[in-house]
Amino acid sequence: MVYWRAMNARDRLLAPWHSPVPLTGVLAFDVPRYLDALSCAFTAAHCADVAEEARALAGSYGADPARAEAAGWLHDVSAVIPRARRIEIAQGLGVPVLPEEQAAPVILHQKLSAVLAEAIFGIDDARVLDAVRYHTTLHPDADLLAKVVFLADKIRWDQVGQPPYLDDLARALEAGSLDAAVCVYLGFLWERRAALMVVHPWMAAAYCGLCEPAGGRP
Ligand SMILES: [Fe+2]
Ligand SMILES: [Fe+2]
Repeated sequence: MVYWRAMNARDRLLAPWHSPVPLTGVLAFDVPRYLDALSCAFTAAHCADVAEEARALAGSYGADPARAEAAGWLHDVSAVIPRARRIEIAQGLGVPVLPEEQAAPVILHQKLSAVLAEAIFGIDDARVLDAVRYHTTLHPDADLLAKVVFLADKIRWDQVGQPPYLDDLARALEAGSLDAAVCVYLGFLWERRAALMVVHPWMAAAYCGLCEPAGGRP
């Protein structure tokens, strides 16, 4: 009871997702065990893939490999929060929920993963937290690290088969341009925006700012 009163509002709201296993501070050890223990083994395997890809991309394009790997491990940890509760949890935590996220709560997982990275795994590196927070939609303020993690997630996607944009994206990377690779994926989404569940404003702003500087329209 004393312990419960001592917990702050964030901790109380996140109590169902506090780690059931001891955490060591080594993400490559902790994240898979945390996700496995909370019945998210599939996500654990995907996070391992993204962490590996992010570290490799970071090494090739001048980002910090350790930070990239950390963000890769953490980017989808909010899979532990059921989709049906994500709006309620985000609002309870004071995380801004955009209309597009109200309409498609699955997108909120990027913001909630950043919350869990900080609250459960003790991450206080703002750049790592931003890379986690932007990994689905990117963001007009995304730095190199965030772009690396964004691309790693698209290269090692969590769906069946090869991503349809992968060959074009690989060609852009082989040509040495991380930004061009980012625009391959954002352009792929933009061409299909009428069919998307929602057009997230961060994605639209990133596309228009990075890929269509002369006249893109969200
Ligand atoms: Fe994700
Ligand atoms: Fe992912």
